[in-house]
Formats: sequence, structure tokens, C-alpha cells
Amino acid sequence: MKTLDDLIAEGVTGRRVLVRADLNVPLDGATITDDGRVRASLPTITRLAEAGARVVVAAHLGRPKGAPEAKYSLAPVAARLSELLGREVPLAADLVGDSAKATVAGLADGGVALLENVRFDARETSKDAAERGALADELAALADAFVSDGFGVVHRKQASVYDVATRLPAYAGGLVLAEVEVLRRLTTDPARPYVVALGGSKVSDKLAVIESLLPKVDALLVGGGMCFTFLAAEGHGVGDSLLEADMIDTCKRLLAENPGKIALPEDVVIADDFSAEANTSTVLAAQIREGWKGLDIGPITVERYADVLKAAGTVFWNGPMGVFELAPFAEGTRGVAAAIVDSSAFSVVGGGDSAAAVRLLGLPEDGFSHISTGGGASLEFLEGKDLPGVTVLDTAREG
Ligand code: 3PG
Repeated sequence: MKTLDDLIAEGVTGRRVLVRADLNVPLDGATITDDGRVRASLPTITRLAEAGARVVVAAHLGRPKGAPEAKYSLAPVAARLSELLGREVPLAADLVGDSAKATVAGLADGGVALLENVRFDARETSKDAAERGALADELAALADAFVSDGFGVVHRKQASVYDVATRLPAYAGGLVLAEVEVLRRLTTDPARPYVVALGGSKVSDKLAVIESLLPKVDALLVGGGMCFTFLAAEGHGVGDSLLEADMIDTCKRLLAENPGKIALPEDVVIADDFSAEANTSTVLAAQIREGWKGLDIGPITVERYADVLKAAGTVFWNGPMGVFELAPFAEGTRGVAAAIVDSSAFSVVGGGDSAAAVRLLGLPEDGFSHISTGGGASLEFLEGKDLPGVTVLDTAREG
């Protein structure tokens, strides 16, 4: 696989380099609530610009339906990128149309421009390889080389991630390389005990990674909305908590097949409404009241999970332990994250929500060995799945 170092060594002055970045940031209206992914994209962009390349950045935002939608415009991202780079980053009004062509043509050596949301073009996410290929041809015509640096999206076989890499000399960016190296450390002889803390709302979303991690880890600490399906599998009533009834049998099987390995909350914070103003109470997991819903793990559980995390040699954390965006339900996530910071384990935070939680709850980013920019991508890597955006670089055209 060729890398950014190889491209720089070949010389990029005056060459147009298309960089696929993952700039899919959470927004509140037009305000970016966590700019972690924008900041993570800076080193590769800066290195190319400083080496004299004309840097053309392609990225997606949200999941528009294959046509322009104002709320998914990358305009707020272009503004933030401009601030962070300390220079104007023009945003083309389209992806491969007249505006994109003019914007790229207007770049000086060392200049940086952003194309509008790649998912405004339905061909980007098409299942039809010929459709994706047609868009990839148009993207490739805008550049002389391609750098894949959007780790968060390498699990997607999409035109700007996969197909374009078969049409231009293609290189792995610094972020993709760093992420893959860290995740490999988790899969190759991790220091023991290897502890995984898993949250998020649904067991069904995480089932594949749970199944693939259980044989490899020493403990799986379960929180978030998905813990209630596990608690139901243990025979507890869960009131109005999030419940995937069709997953109860699967959870029963996982618990039976892995005795002592899966830790479930002993206590939970319940509320009579999904709101920061709701009435709340902390109860044993076996005592969730009818009409109330569990929205966080409780303090006894945090203490127990913290003990396990502090004694770990390796930690992987994906998914908040509760609805951390609402203050009354943030303590579980804060407590688990703080225990990871206190632990001397090699620790990796995987995923959009957990990475955002670290920053939004004000935890020190340098308290973790690595905060991944990829949610789905890091989980698919740990499941052992092929990441098309990475493997394509192994077979990509030579520069
Ligand atoms: C993410 O947020 O995990 C990545 O940006 C990928 O986004 P997607 O799940 O919409 O493909």
C-alpha cells in the first residue's frame, strides 16, 4: 500500500490531490457541536498543502437522499476548516459540476478547497458499480492523485471512498494508517486483561461485534440502552426502557455461553420521561418501575465497572453508557470514561458518540491512548470484516 509519505516523496508541487476525509460532524443547526473529525483531518491536508499540492477535499455529511439538501451542506465544515487552517477554504457549490471544476481550477499551489457533500449525488452510494464508477470517473478528472484519509467511512464501498481509488494513483493518508495500526494492536495479542465497555442503544446493531469480541476479551461491560434487553434476558422487568424483544433469546444465549464474562448493570437511573426535566430515581436493576425508563447506569455499577477498567491491560470503549447529552443521565458515561483515563491500560475509544462524549463531558483527550474517528469502521475492523476503502489501496493503481 502506498502512503502519504510516498506521495510527498514523489513530489506534489502543482499536482491536484483529491483527499477523501470524514468530516461527518454532529451539528446543532449550523453549529458544529464536536469538531473532532475536522481537527483529525488537518495533519494530512496541511502536509499536502505545505508540500505545494492543490488539495481538493471530498467528504459527506449526514445521510441526504442523493440530492442537495441545505441542512446537509458542508458550509459549516468549510468555515471551521478555514478557521483551523488559518486560511480561506472555498466550498464548491457542487461535487463534480461547473462550480467544482472552477474551484479546482482556481486553486494555487498549496491551496485547499472543499467539494460539496458527496452524498448530494445519488451515484455515490449506489449499489450499482457502473453508476458509482461514472461518478468516480468525474471525481478522478478533478485530480492527479487520491489520498484516502476518511477512516470513519472506509467500511463503505462508495464512489469517493472505493471506486475513485481504482482510477487514480492512490495513497493511504496519515489518519487511516494511524487508525489501522492502533486497531491492529487490539486484535494482535492485546495486553491482558482485555476489557471492552459497550454501550449504545441497540443490541441488534452491536450483535456482530459482540459475537466476535466475546471469545477474545476477558470482560464485556454492558451499558447504554442495550443493557435493558440483556436485563430482560435475565428475567428482570424493564418498565418502559428501550427493549428489543426479538433479541432477548439471543442475549440469553450469549449470557449462557459466556458465564462470568458479560457484566450487566446492578443499578440504573430511571426517569418518568425522556427529558432533562423528568423525575428521576436510582434503583436496583431488578426494580425498574412500570411506566419508567432506564436512561443511565447507576453509581454502584459505575464503581464496579471502574474497578475492572482500572485493572485492565487493554480497553476498548464504544457507545455511551446512558443518555449523556442530558445532564441527569451523563454520570454513567462520565464515570466509565474517567475510569479509563485513570487506568494505565492501552485504551481506545471507538466511535462517533463515545468520542464526542469524551469532548463534550470535558474529559482530557490525552487520557486515552487513541480516540478513533470511526464508529462503524472501527467496529467492522474488530469484527474482522474487510474494509473496502483500505483493501482497495492494496490493489490500487501505481502512481
Ligand atoms: C460515521 O459517522 O460513522 C461515518 O461518517 C460514516 O457515516 P455513515 O454511517 O452515514 O456512512
